[in-house]
Amino acid sequence: MSRDIRVSDDPAAEVAERLTEAAIAGGDVVLTGGSTPKRAYELAAERDADWSPAHVWFTDERCVEPTHPDANFAMADRALLSQLSAAPTVHRMEAELGPDAGAGSYEAEIRGRMAAEPRWNLLLLGMGPDGHVASLFPGKPELEERSRLVVGVPLAGMEPQVPRITLTMPAICSAREAILLITGENKAATVARVFGADPDRSLPAARVELRYGTLTVLLDQAAASQL
Ligand code: 6PG
Repeated sequence: MSRDIRVSDDPAAEVAERLTEAAIAGGDVVLTGGSTPKRAYELAAERDADWSPAHVWFTDERCVEPTHPDANFAMADRALLSQLSAAPTVHRMEAELGPDAGAGSYEAEIRGRMAAEPRWNLLLLGMGPDGHVASLFPGKPELEERSRLVVGVPLAGMEPQVPRITLTMPAICSAREAILLITGENKAATVARVFGADPDRSLPAARVELRYGTLTVLLDQAAASQL
């Protein structure tokens, strides 16, 4: 529906606040991986709010054991989930089953709770330097998936080069609210390609358009420096 691009002095603090509010309200909150959101998760953990009404989901996962250092779950669990006195219901992607079985099982879990159009209350995304979001990489067939909510990704587009499980673009774009958090100078050129005057639609980040809500693109000064 709409998109709001904002530069913030402290994007991690803003994300921590939005996550906390959504969790307290009992929302279906979708966490993401990579290194960027870690600070936001730590700040949310420091608030130690009552997350017990919330359901926590994930945008994507690497096909490793959940405790592996590369697992998105492991990072979110260490930084946030395991730190909370009142924990949410956590819906982890079982990536250790492999990309196809893991994706099938997560799709069933989502449809069981949220039907075919999951209206996530708050979905968090990061963006890779190649413009990927979740594990939807430029030029890969998974980016074109229209009917499934979750797919396996046999060939990742970048490190770590392990298969992935990812929400599809339709599953991402049915969120009520989403935040695309991008920080750092190394993302600035891609930010300009995605959000500048002539958006490059081949980049997955340029295709995130929510059907029912607002996408907030939250940048720090460095990431916004070429806009
Ligand atoms: C993943 C993520 C991915 C991430 C971007 C940005 O599993 O890798 O979910 O989409 O958000 O790659 O990662 P960084 O924050 O590490 O740059």
